[in-house]
Amino acid sequence: MALPPAFLDELRVRTPLPGLIGRKTRLTKSGRNWKGCCPFHGEKTPSFYVYDDHFHCFGCGAHGDAITFVMRSEGASFPEAVERLAAEAGMEVPKPSAREVERERHARDLHAIMAAAAEAFHRRLFLPEGRPALDYLLRRGLKEETIRDFALGWAASGRGAIAADLRGLGVTEGQLVELGLLRPGEAGDPPRDFFYARVMFPIRDRRGRVIAFGGRILGDGQPKYVNSPETPLFHKRLGLYGLDLAREGAFRGATVVAVEGYMDVIALHQAGFTGAVAPLGTALTPEQLQELWRLSPEPVLCFDGDAAGARAAARAAEVALPLITTDRTLRFATLPAGEDPDTLTARGGPTAFQAVLDAARPMSDALYGLVVGGHPAATPEQRAALRNRLTAAAGAIADKALAAEYRRALLDRFFASGRKGPGGARPAVRRPARPPIAEGPVRAERARMLLAIVLRHPWLLPQVEEAIGLLDLPDGPATHLRAAILAWHGGVERVDSEGLIAHLADCGLEDAVAWALVPAGLPLAARPEALPGEVEEGFWHFFLRLRGEAELIEDQQDAQRILAETNDPTAQRRLILVTEALDAIRRGEGAAGASGDAA
Ligand code: UTP
Ligand code: MN
Repeated sequence: MALPPAFLDELRVRTPLPGLIGRKTRLTKSGRNWKGCCPFHGEKTPSFYVYDDHFHCFGCGAHGDAITFVMRSEGASFPEAVERLAAEAGMEVPKPSAREVERERHARDLHAIMAAAAEAFHRRLFLPEGRPALDYLLRRGLKEETIRDFALGWAASGRGAIAADLRGLGVTEGQLVELGLLRPGEAGDPPRDFFYARVMFPIRDRRGRVIAFGGRILGDGQPKYVNSPETPLFHKRLGLYGLDLAREGAFRGATVVAVEGYMDVIALHQAGFTGAVAPLGTALTPEQLQELWRLSPEPVLCFDGDAAGARAAARAAEVALPLITTDRTLRFATLPAGEDPDTLTARGGPTAFQAVLDAARPMSDALYGLVVGGHPAATPEQRAALRNRLTAAAGAIADKALAAEYRRALLDRFFASGRKGPGGARPAVRRPARPPIAEGPVRAERARMLLAIVLRHPWLLPQVEEAIGLLDLPDGPATHLRAAILAWHGGVERVDSEGLIAHLADCGLEDAVAWALVPAGLPLAARPEALPGEVEEGFWHFFLRLRGEAELIEDQQDAQRILAETNDPTAQRRLILVTEALDAIRRGEGAAGASGDAA
């Protein structure tokens, strides 16, 4: 009896594997995982690994989850193993209702009929009537072995062939209609064959059971493919062509890659890419993505190199974004224009497709281009619209921390694209020429001033330490000083400038302190006699000029929100400072930078 997948998933989650397996063999920690001697074959050195959700023995190949572990280690049947683990996990195994038992029996019958139908089509491919179809497949480069692996077949051109082939099994016409092998007749006519005069591609589920067919016309003609209708066994949104074989391929280390068509999957498997699958004539659905992630944490989606391919990729990204997590993501690969994986491997062999896989880009990288799409981003309005789309794309990610990282990565690229100027991403907007900015020295000088202020006024630290920690400071004396200052502040009782400077000298940072305190150019806020208000003002001035524009925009939104909520003067001052800093950056003051900043 099939148990609800949600129940089994919960059972697995509630059964930590190291605890279960640790009773049979001694496990020791190995990185994030555990290892020990394999309980299934005699060994002296451990080659048996236990991961979060499965175990694997590199010695004998034993592999499985908590349920299979109990089955194998105790010789239990599946229901017995589930029963035992559920009792330990304090869960109750759901009891099948009489209706479910009946439905299950019915489905078993339907599966048997589909298996028989696939066999019948396959047999006919090797009969004289199937000769043109077999020749067609061979001409397209398929080996006979491949034709057998995929159980390709031939649906005869006469009427009633499939019903005749299955008659011996006691199959009813009603069942054939239910399975989509016959089309119900109109206006009292008898049902007709759904597939005739077509090369047949059995579509199998993850366990290898035939659930539907695709049928291709020989040569040109429309429609090129017809696929089984939705049936009790077949839901187009859920299936993936090649899934049963790709599961095995993935297990042996093949890259899991989703391509577009039946022939692509077959050609790729034949070329050694045994992790290839395809959706069934539709765009990838969330269910299909979940299926891919059961095989690999980072499957590759492969798209055509034309505009339609780019649109399909954008749509796939949109579907995927709400679902990705730190350990379930995607890569995007693009085919050379005008090729599909079938033609590509036919022309260039496995190396040609391997090159496509090698060039696959991580989701984070591909996403920017997909969001930009073909939209121009030249005017302020267009750029603002693009920024909104980028923010929305990141916002679609449900995993909060990941969404924040994506947002940052996308906006970084957005602002970088804005700075490229003529020839870059904004060819239409010409900025007045300004001297090239020596980013490095300007940043170093600003970091120096910020640190000088803190060195002279460490009483600021409680209110600014978090902010200082966020800054991306130039490597060198600035980062060394920051680390030592924050460490000192965490452990010291008396906070004063002399104590801090002496401590830093003890840490071997005498030179770094001297660098920070070179008087030339130091702002008023870094002088010992500065008033507290001046010190704070000065600190935030430099802080805001060290923080990137993307982060400043976030700071500005935060400040606006806090001001709206609290109406407090500190929040108001912060908002003014952030806004000034943003304006300054946008006016391109970065160039004048250090000197202009100094009081
Ligand atoms: P393609 O036209 O790219 O098919 O459609 P293909 O796999 O490359 O076919 P060949 O190489 O000409 O034999 C991609 C997929 O879209 C679906 C099928 O799943 C096909 O594999 N499709 C296409 C249909 O369902 N119906 C059609 O009429 C055409
Ligand atoms: Mn093709």
